[in-house]
Amino acid sequence: MKSVLIIGSGGREHAIARSFSESMTVETVYVAPGNPGMLSNAKIECVNIQVTEIELLIEFAQINHIDLTFVGPEQPLELGIVDSFMEHNLAIVGPTKSAAQLENSKNFAKDIMKQVDVKTAQYKFFEPKSYSSAKEYAQTLGLPFVIKADGLMSGKGVVIPETMDEALTTLKDMMETNNKPVLIEEFLIGSEFSHFSLINGTHVIPLGTSCDYKRVADGDQGLNTGGMGAFAPVPWFNEVEQKIVQSEIVQPIADRMVEIGTPFTGVLYTGIIWTADGPKVIEFNTRLGDPETQVLLPLLENDIYDVMEAHLNHSPIDIKFKNEFNVGVVLAATGYPTTPMNHIPLNIADDLTEHILFAGITESPDSGLLSKGGRILIGLGNGQSLEEAKINAYKVMKNLDIKDTFYREDIGLNRSNQYLEEVQEWQKK
Ligand code: AMP
Ligand code: GLY
Repeated sequence: MKSVLIIGSGGREHAIARSFSESMTVETVYVAPGNPGMLSNAKIECVNIQVTEIELLIEFAQINHIDLTFVGPEQPLELGIVDSFMEHNLAIVGPTKSAAQLENSKNFAKDIMKQVDVKTAQYKFFEPKSYSSAKEYAQTLGLPFVIKADGLMSGKGVVIPETMDEALTTLKDMMETNNKPVLIEEFLIGSEFSHFSLINGTHVIPLGTSCDYKRVADGDQGLNTGGMGAFAPVPWFNEVEQKIVQSEIVQPIADRMVEIGTPFTGVLYTGIIWTADGPKVIEFNTRLGDPETQVLLPLLENDIYDVMEAHLNHSPIDIKFKNEFNVGVVLAATGYPTTPMNHIPLNIADDLTEHILFAGITESPDSGLLSKGGRILIGLGNGQSLEEAKINAYKVMKNLDIKDTFYREDIGLNRSNQYLEEVQEWQKK
């Protein structure tokens, strides 16, 4: 029997840990640091080591004979956790520090795409101290366009300005106040979704599609968040579309990364807008998405440990997904995303826990589970249609009854229908 180690503590990591706990070959799933909401599963154990404490994680993996480590969040990747584990001959799923540049340097990602003709929004890159040329370019281009700060900004690096004044203030703030390089790029119209693949060099395993909801309020209003919900899969995305994304985007990127000496290993998350001219990339992330993972992984029919072994050994595997939909709704603390209330008591009925994945959770000896941070948990529903999955997810949410929290009411509305005309126009061609 195998032991695995999951790095991270949120809802995404709970979903990954639960998937591994359902594997026939896995005996123990350690999560560092994990959260106490995960512990109702007998196979899961939390380990008190933070995601940035790489030396301690290596020591833990060695002492406990961990067979496979899976990295959830981006910070340890940027710190080189995968390089360090590999140096110690420890099996790990994730990209090296230099391959993780696909996520943490937009300029690097755009360059690679250009080298292999992967379609993306037209763009121009500006160094931090060149505000006046950025301003001139923005004014020549005219609205709408998108401004992106380079480097990890925890989701706050993308602005779609509504007025030229807002555009110039944003550019000034990013380039002069925060000293960040920026990209100004064309605004793409089409249907947006996230696409996942496991890549090891030139070996690619497809992991499916999902849509997430980033804004805090219904109708995609209000501030950006870490994600208020998601559904999977994208209803109009079929085998034809998968073949196109793989052959026009994922495989060329994987092959090119090998050619330039930084082979990609781990999960490639491709943010795509399917336009009337086909799919165009808006970003790469080098990890699973949160909250996409929470709705994606329960659809996988294969044993996840087998999938990871096939990934690490470059061996063939036939990936099968259940023929159903999942919807996940995030429960957030009042005040999220700016000033979330903390330590909200969470009394959750036992029969609900199998439909819940926990995120920002702590525990006290007197009060039991308490919230910690903005996003507390995600409630899940599945069904034969997106509508049925949505109804089931909201049944869970309505039964929660936790004070000082809120959730969006419109998760699972077929958001990928937004600008679906562009996809249909493309499908007719
Ligand atoms: P990101 O942080 O790169 O995922 O961007 C945040 C959001 O901005 C995306 O989910 C898209 O909805 C939007 N976005 C980013 N780039 C573009 C683009 N070139 N055209 C249209 N929308 C975009
Ligand atoms: N759901 C967006 C992300 O994980 O970056």
